[in-house]
Amino acid sequence: MKRRTFLGAALGVLASRVGRAAPTEPPEVIVVGGGPAGISCALELAEKGVRVTLVEAGSQLGGKAKGWRETLDGDPVDVEHGIHGWWYQYVHFHDLLARYSLSEGLREARASENGMRLEDGYRVTGFFTRAGAFIRRANARGHGFFPTAFKAGQRWMRKISLAEIRAGFAGKSVADWVANDPPLTVYSVFDEMMAHSMYFRPPAQVDAAEYIEGERFYFSGGPKNDRVQWLNGNPDTLVWTPLANAIAAHGGVIERGSPVTEVLVGNGRVVGVRTGRPPAEVRIDGPLDAWRSVELDGERVWVGPGEEGPVAYSAVCTHQGCAVDRSDAGFVCPCHGGRYDGTGQPVAGPPEHPLSRYRVEPDGSGFVVKRPDTRKSLYAPWVVLAVDVPALQALVGELLPSVRELQACREVVARFWVDRDVSQTARSAVLLEGFAHSSNGFLVHRLQAGAGAWAAEKGGAVVEIQAYRGWSGTETDAEMLEALEGEMRAIWTELADATVLKRHLTVGDAFTWFQPGWRAHAQQVRTDVDGLLLAGDHVHVPDSEVQFMERAVLTGRMAANIVLRATGRRPADILPPR
Ligand code: FES
Repeated sequence: MKRRTFLGAALGVLASRVGRAAPTEPPEVIVVGGGPAGISCALELAEKGVRVTLVEAGSQLGGKAKGWRETLDGDPVDVEHGIHGWWYQYVHFHDLLARYSLSEGLREARASENGMRLEDGYRVTGFFTRAGAFIRRANARGHGFFPTAFKAGQRWMRKISLAEIRAGFAGKSVADWVANDPPLTVYSVFDEMMAHSMYFRPPAQVDAAEYIEGERFYFSGGPKNDRVQWLNGNPDTLVWTPLANAIAAHGGVIERGSPVTEVLVGNGRVVGVRTGRPPAEVRIDGPLDAWRSVELDGERVWVGPGEEGPVAYSAVCTHQGCAVDRSDAGFVCPCHGGRYDGTGQPVAGPPEHPLSRYRVEPDGSGFVVKRPDTRKSLYAPWVVLAVDVPALQALVGELLPSVRELQACREVVARFWVDRDVSQTARSAVLLEGFAHSSNGFLVHRLQAGAGAWAAEKGGAVVEIQAYRGWSGTETDAEMLEALEGEMRAIWTELADATVLKRHLTVGDAFTWFQPGWRAHAQQVRTDVDGLLLAGDHVHVPDSEVQFMERAVLTGRMAANIVLRATGRRPADILPPR
């Protein structure tokens, strides 16, 4: 048995034992949010013997890096929120994986796997064509003698301090920076492409300091800093479930499907959180001879004739919260192939839990649908909010008013399973420019073993498009999928006539938007409310230029360390950048 398999099995056994032993003492720390920040925090605490409860709103862990399994003609296929590059310099993330022998789930990308496609169909596939495109753009932007300008740009990037970057560029946009004769760097030359690809917004809407720090963090640091790794399969099975098992094995508790609705504060100090919803009811006119959906205190509910009288089910899918529709057989979720039977029991797709059922009582000529009181208070002297920007604003917008100025932006990811492959010379990961919507393209079957096996057996391909451009916000899912399928056929021209066997769309509005000046509104890990700590990629770390997932994992560890120090325990190591 491989070490990882053995360890995973051992942790699984331990986890189930821990799961049976109900904790007798209340938690010392409640971590809200089961993404990379929350898992990082909970694991550091649990390892050091802190009683920690991690509360996750959905049924799955992994946040915006989660994965799950669906089927295609009866075969299992993996779906993700979106493929992530796991960079060499994500030191705290790699440390987490290494501690639990999970690193073998990552594999290094070869330089030849990465490419760019610029406007007018100009394909940039190898080092020399990439360098050629860089020189062509640099010349077009008026840079003088290229070698001199290039060396000067590199020197500038190496020498400027973090304090100088933030003092000089925070609050300005990338478009401002580029318009004012910036040094010749990859990010200043390919600003339109890099802003969308890495920061989800056009150059006019991205903070220049964040962007410049990003170029340094991702491309201009140590000698290996442009190395990226890909996860060789489903993030849920390769990373998040094993780490969750590790938390449980150390005595931590994980509560899924528990949306936190309130942070409880008393005498200026956090005292816990409240989950669940207050009781509510809505009256509807009879007769009830067909299904209809009604609004119940902000929640959509299906009400209809059951075998023994009227019944009502929440329309909120128990997987990730999409709104389910009625079908002949029961209920169908439009998001990830979820299906429920007529009594709300899950029968297909990712959902594991039944739809919530509510009482329906006769009321004169109509009926009253009643939602019970599901609120539950959970008390602890420390609360770590490791949630995305919209959830943070909903929970502590009153308590920490500056977070109301943060913004979140739209994430649109489409994955297609098609009946033929693309050229063997095509790059597996391409940055895109010149398309109405597409920003990044991936040949998933070349990056991940499971997708590769499916593609080899079918002679097909699995491709993913991450599309951060040009949405009005009013498009339907079907319109977005149509538009992206058209772009897929243009990006990989071999797929122009391909048959699409399955397509999947993930849409959200929770990516952190690093708008110009965002740091002025961001909170640090320690807030002004005693006992309330924050973690996530939207958290300001004064002396660090790490970004995205590594910032999430780092701030999770920093939050854990504040608790560990305050309770007299040894803090976890904060590792030097590389
Ligand atoms: Fe995923 Fe419904 S939200 S199946």
